[in-house]
Amino acid sequence: MKEQLQKIYDAASADLTKATSIADIEELKLKYLSRKGELNSIKKNLKDLSDEDKRVVGAFANEIANKLEAEVKAKYDEFYKKELDEKLKKEKIDVTLTGKYVPQGHVHPITSTIDEIVDIFHTLGFSVAPDKNSPEVETENYHFDKLNFPKDHPARDMQDTFYTTIAPHVILRGQTSGAQVRVMEDMKPPIKIIAPGRVYRNENINSRKNNFFHQIEGLYIDKNVTFADLKGVLNEFLRLYFGASRPTRFRSSFFPFTEPSVEIDVQCIMCQGKGCKTCSGTGWLEILGAGMVDVNVLKASNIDPEVYSGFAFGMGVERLSMLKYAIDDIRLFFNNDERFLEQF
Ligand code: DAH
Repeated sequence: MKEQLQKIYDAASADLTKATSIADIEELKLKYLSRKGELNSIKKNLKDLSDEDKRVVGAFANEIANKLEAEVKAKYDEFYKKELDEKLKKEKIDVTLTGKYVPQGHVHPITSTIDEIVDIFHTLGFSVAPDKNSPEVETENYHFDKLNFPKDHPARDMQDTFYTTIAPHVILRGQTSGAQVRVMEDMKPPIKIIAPGRVYRNENINSRKNNFFHQIEGLYIDKNVTFADLKGVLNEFLRLYFGASRPTRFRSSFFPFTEPSVEIDVQCIMCQGKGCKTCSGTGWLEILGAGMVDVNVLKASNIDPEVYSGFAFGMGVERLSMLKYAIDDIRLFFNNDERFLEQF
């Protein structure tokens, strides 16, 4: 048996000399040293020997096993180090190389303009109305009737308004003003909200008109709200958005849902008021409509006009952005030309 053990050891030694990789070593370990390996199968026969032989042969078997294990381990460590070195050499990275360029997205200028305006109105005490009070798909009732539009008002015409086939009297909103009524029906005064959103109009598209754009509606209802409050809030907004030196003007106007009504113009940035194509030669561009909320609108929204009064306004986001950044064509916002968008 001792001879058999010695033979196994010699064969294992020979295999170990021939081994060239960790894989070879693993194979060798399996063949000679594992539970089902050759050394163990010999050890199983020990039980047939006399006690004395058991002791001697057993000790020899252990000695051989230990020796082989140590040799195998040494070889394994040697290969491991060698293979690791090779791997590290192959995978070496040059940390001085410049990184790969990952293009970054930009906040769309309309989004950032809305954010900026919302921030300004936050400082003036306004909060943004819940989305449910400002739907893009609106009924004629909220969009026209409750806002005091006469039945034959030209704005109701199919030429201006996109009617849907969802149901009769359901339209794509052409103004955010419907949000005023929805908010007044849901909240009790004092009310001080703004409602930003997209509106749709059946327009011939040109450099100043698109068939969808964005508005920010505002509404302030409380006891004793006067036209002086309207002027104070809107002038402060203009000062914070355009800076104190930009000329602006109030012009009297008419809207069915406000009385009295005004429009605000801002001096054209393209020509500094001299008159150009963008401002049709006038030197001014209209950016918002506003006024004291009409008594009929308060009544339609269950607010007592004897107790409460208020003002409302609606501004064009694209116009405000164009007038701040000297953008002379509204279509630039929507045709996704990266050369334009990248500048913001
Ligand atoms: N809805 C009007 C428009 O789209 C703008 C407007 C005017 C809104 C006067 C108002 C307002 O809230 O009081 O032209």
